[in-house]
Amino acid sequence: MKRDLISMLDVREDLDGIIDLGISLKKRKKSGGSIGFLGGKTLGMIFEKPSTRTRVSFEVAMTLLGGHAIFLSTNDMQLGRGESIEDTALVLSRYVDIIMYRAYNHDSMLELAKYSSVPVINGLDDREHPCQVIADLMTIKEYKGDLRGLNFVYIGDGNNNMAHSYLLGCGIAGMNIRIVSPKGFWPDKYYVEEAKKFGVRVEIVDDMRDATKDADVVATDTWVSMGDEEEKERRIRAFQGYTVNMEVMSRAKKDAIFMHCLPAYYGYEVTREVAHGPQSVIFDEAENRLWAQAAIMVRLSGIR
Ligand code: CP
Ligand code: NVA
Repeated sequence: MKRDLISMLDVREDLDGIIDLGISLKKRKKSGGSIGFLGGKTLGMIFEKPSTRTRVSFEVAMTLLGGHAIFLSTNDMQLGRGESIEDTALVLSRYVDIIMYRAYNHDSMLELAKYSSVPVINGLDDREHPCQVIADLMTIKEYKGDLRGLNFVYIGDGNNNMAHSYLLGCGIAGMNIRIVSPKGFWPDKYYVEEAKKFGVRVEIVDDMRDATKDADVVATDTWVSMGDEEEKERRIRAFQGYTVNMEVMSRAKKDAIFMHCLPAYYGYEVTREVAHGPQSVIFDEAENRLWAQAAIMVRLSGIR
């Protein structure tokens, strides 16, 4: 049976194992060792939306693992001019060993996974961004050690892919999560209910005054996700007062870290002072996309 990574719930059984594998691949490679576990394998990467980190980190990860990655933009694929997702999945499954897909629509993601006979990895859709959240949890583990019992605070658009995957990821990892968003931008109830099933504290609030109280980790994301561009002005108005600035950070624990999946828009969801300040780990997060995804690909290939 092939195994996909569409939602954080797909790694509920082995999140710890993937994070630890990511950390060990990173150490091994940096100390001069070989990590060529996927020699001769090919990754196909389909992009409907732009990307810097996802594209480069997957491609480099596959190279380091001894395999090869192919970048496929839907602008240049027959998929972009009407070929069905079903036929695309059936054809690509004859050529490549893993498919990574960045899609506008979660239903397209599910359809590709349904018809593909090789593992499909969600490289972001409108519901979730699991690869980013696995890399983020790996980063938190590197900084804080044990994840269990930590307090994670996410400020900003609570109804986007990052907020949803954070809810599930924190639940699985045993971390309490508080989402601080204006009403109207609260998470889809499904993710809140799923997170609660793991027995962690889940709070959804709109009040910024105590937003970062007791926080070990403070995270945010853009107020205008890819696909939300038409709502840009309305969103910027709605999110006034939700910027993560030095004052917001000063109300968290002294050793709190700041996270952002990037790209960041300084002066909106976060100030540059915070993002490039001493508590920020945003570039470790970006680097860890590479190691976490290497671990994910090794795992889905059933090798380790
Ligand atoms: N964080 C992230 O997924 O970045 P890209 O859009 O650049 O891939
Ligand atoms: N929420 C953002 C994440 C970008 C990596 C978006 O979907 O655009």
